[in-house]
Amino acid sequence: MPELSPIDKAKFAAAKRAAQYVESGMRVGLGTGSTAAWLVRCLGEKVRDEGLRITGVPTSTRTAQLAREVGIDVVSLDEAKWLDLTIDGADEFDGNLNLIKGGGGAHLQEKIVATASDQMIVIADASKQVETLGAFPLPLEVIPFGWQTTKTLVEETLVGLDVMGRSTTLRMNGEAPFVTDEGNHILDLHLHRIGNARQLSLVLNQIPGVVENGLFIDICDVVVIGHGDGRVELRDINQGAVEETKFDFLETDNLFTDIAD
Ligand code: 5RP
Repeated sequence: MPELSPIDKAKFAAAKRAAQYVESGMRVGLGTGSTAAWLVRCLGEKVRDEGLRITGVPTSTRTAQLAREVGIDVVSLDEAKWLDLTIDGADEFDGNLNLIKGGGGAHLQEKIVATASDQMIVIADASKQVETLGAFPLPLEVIPFGWQTTKTLVEETLVGLDVMGRSTTLRMNGEAPFVTDEGNHILDLHLHRIGNARQLSLVLNQIPGVVENGLFIDICDVVVIGHGDGRVELRDINQGAVEETKFDFLETDNLFTDIAD
C-alpha cells in the first residue's frame, strides 16, 4: 500500500488530535470533506478498538454513509437536539478563528449543526490559515427558483461592500448545476479579500433567495492545525492557548487507506 502523502498526514494528524476531545456518551457533529473524513475514520477506530460510545450527527449524506461504514451510531440533529461537540474542516480560517466553509457544498447543514453545539473544533492543514478571509470563493447556498435574479441581486449588493472582487459563478457538477443535500444551488462569490466578514454575512443572508452563506463568524472555538511531519498546533479562542504535539506515523502508517473518501 502507498504511504500517505504529506497533505493526508497533515489532515490525519489534525483529526487524530481532535478525536482526543471526544468522550463516551457525547453527541458529536460530524463535518464534511476530506479532513472531516479522517476524523470520522479515527472515531470509527476508537468505537471499534476502544469501546467508545458516541452518537454522531452527520452534516451531509456523504458523511452519514462513511460514519455508518465505520460503525458510528448516526442520528438526525432533531433526534440529538443539542450536541456536545462538532468537529469539521474549513476552507479558510483567520486569526480570530472565523471561517469560510462550503467548498464541499455542505455549509448549510454544517452551520446549523455547529451552532447547535457547545463547542466547534476545526481541523485543517496549515494551507487553510489566512491573514484575511476571501481568497477562497465564498459559497452561497441559494434556492433554485429565480437563482439568476438572486445572482444579479447579490452582485449589486456587493458593490456597496468592503470586498475586492464582485464576480459570482454558479457551481456546476459536470454539465448540470451542483445540487446540495437540501436541493439548492451554490453561487461561488469571488471576493479575493473580505474587509468586514461579519457585515457581509448579515447582508448576504437578507437577500431573498439566499439560504445561507459560508462565513462562520464567532462559531469556531478551537482550530487544530496538522502538518505533514505529524506536528499538530492547537489554538483555543477562549483560553488563548497554543499547544504543539507530534504524532509518530510509523505505528499508524497506511491506516485507513483501504477506505475511500
Ligand atoms: C464542506 C466544507 C469542508 O469542511 C471544507 O470544504 C474543507 O474540505 P477539505 O477538508 O476537503 O479541504 O466546508 O462544505
